[in-house]
Amino acid sequence: MTRKVHIKTYGCQMNVYDSQRMADVLAPIGYVPSDEAEGADLVILNTCHIREKAAEKVYSELGRLAKLKSERDGMMIAVAGCVAQAEGEEITRRAPAVDIVVGPQAYHRLPQMIAEIHRGAGRALDTEFPALDKFDALPAESGQHGIARFLTVQEGCDKFCTFCVVPYTRGAEYSRPAASIIAEARRMAETGAREITLLGQNVNAYRADGPDGKDWGLARLVRALAEIDGLARIRYTTSHPRDMDDDLIAAHREVAALMPFLHLPVQSGSDRMLAAMNRKHTADDYRRLIDRLRTARPDLALSSDFIVGFPGESDTDFAATMGLIRDIGFAQAFSFKYSRRPGTPASAMPKQVAEAEKDQRLKELQDEVVRQQTAFNMSRIGSRIPVLFDRPGRHPGQIAGRSPWLQAVHVDGEAALIGRVAQVAVASATQNSLSGALVRTEAA
Ligand code: 5AD
Ligand code: SF4
Repeated sequence: MTRKVHIKTYGCQMNVYDSQRMADVLAPIGYVPSDEAEGADLVILNTCHIREKAAEKVYSELGRLAKLKSERDGMMIAVAGCVAQAEGEEITRRAPAVDIVVGPQAYHRLPQMIAEIHRGAGRALDTEFPALDKFDALPAESGQHGIARFLTVQEGCDKFCTFCVVPYTRGAEYSRPAASIIAEARRMAETGAREITLLGQNVNAYRADGPDGKDWGLARLVRALAEIDGLARIRYTTSHPRDMDDDLIAAHREVAALMPFLHLPVQSGSDRMLAAMNRKHTADDYRRLIDRLRTARPDLALSSDFIVGFPGESDTDFAATMGLIRDIGFAQAFSFKYSRRPGTPASAMPKQVAEAEKDQRLKELQDEVVRQQTAFNMSRIGSRIPVLFDRPGRHPGQIAGRSPWLQAVHVDGEAALIGRVAQVAVASATQNSLSGALVRTEAA
C-alpha cells in the first residue's frame, strides 16, 4: 500500500541530510514523499532547538497540524530532530496530537514505531543515544539526486560553549568510519554528484578508523575523497577554530578539489566574551589561524557565525567584535542575537543584555557584513571563474551554479551544462550573486 509522507525540515544542513535518510528508511514500507502536509498520512517535523525562535516555530506548526489531523482519519504526526531530543515527552503534553517523538540517533527505528502505533500503542517515543552507528542501521543513501550533495561524517559536540544546546541534543562527538563514508561518496558520484559537502557539528574534529587501520583526521578523509572519479569539488562545514590542525591547513594548499571557502565560526572578537563562552581561544588566536590559512590558500574566502548580546557584553566587547570583522574581511557571515536556552550555563549568567541593545548591535554588525559581502562579490567582476552548474536558472535559457567561493552565479546557457564546470566571465555582482557570460566548457 502506498502512503504519503511529508517531511518539513528546520535548522541546519545536518537536518536536511537526516530528512533524506528518514525518507530512505520509510520508502521500503511504502511511504512516498509529498510536498505538502495536506493529504499526507504521516507528517514529520525535523526540528531545531538552537535558538528559542526555532523551537517555538515547531509548536505553532503543530497547532496547525492538529487541526489537519482532526479532519483526516489515520494521519500521524511525528516530531524528530533536536526539539524531540531536548524536550521528549514534554512535546506530547504541549501538543497531544503528536504520535511519535524520535531523536536524531533513532531514525532507523521509525518503521518499528509506526508499526507500534498501527497496532494501537497510542504513542511512541525514542530519544536514546544508542551505542551502534545509526548510519549502519539506515539503508544505503538512495534518494538524493542533486549535483551538489551533503554527507554527514561526524555528529555531536564535546565543546560545551556556554550558550549552546548542541552537546545536550546531539550528544558526544562521534565520527563515522572512513570506509563507510568513502563508499557513500562513491555511490553519490556514480549517481551524478559532482560536489560533496562533508557535514558535522564539529566536522574538523573528525577522527575515526581509516580503511588502512590507522587513525584518520578530516584532512586524510578529504584527500581520499578527492581521488573519487567524477567528484570535482569538496567542502566541509561546520568547524571549530581549535580543531583546525596543520594537516587540514596543508590540505587547503595541496588538494585542488578542496574549495577555497571556509565557514569558521568565531562568535565574538572580545577575549572576555570568548572566555565566558568557553570557546578556549582568543581573538588573536583566530587572527593568527586565518593568517596561516590564507598563507596556505591565498584566495580562501571566509565565513563565520557571530552572537551579539551574550550576557555581560559591553559596548567595548561589541566594538572588539566589529574590529575583528573589519580586520578579517568576510565573504559572508551569519549573526544572531543571544537566545537564552534552558539548561545551558549562559542562561543562568548575570547581566543579560536588553533586547533593544541586542537589536541595535545586530543591525550594526549585519550592515558591516552586507558591505563586506557586496565588496567581495564585486571584487570578482572582470575575472574568469570556474562555475559548477547545478540547476536551471530563474528565467528560461538561464542556468545557475556556484563559484569556488560559494557565490551563486547566473548565466545564459543550455541545460546540458548542468553537472559540469565551465568558465564564466563575471560581468556584474550584487550582494547575493554574480552574473556573466560563459567563456568555454571544460571537459570536466
Ligand atoms: N543564541 C544565539 N545563537 C546561538 N548559536 C548557538 N546557540 C545560540 C544561542 N543560544 C549560534 C552560534 C552557532 C550557530 C549555529 O548558532 O553562532 O555557531
Ligand atoms: Fe555548540 Fe560550541 Fe559545539 Fe558549536 S562548538 S555545536 S557552538 S557547543
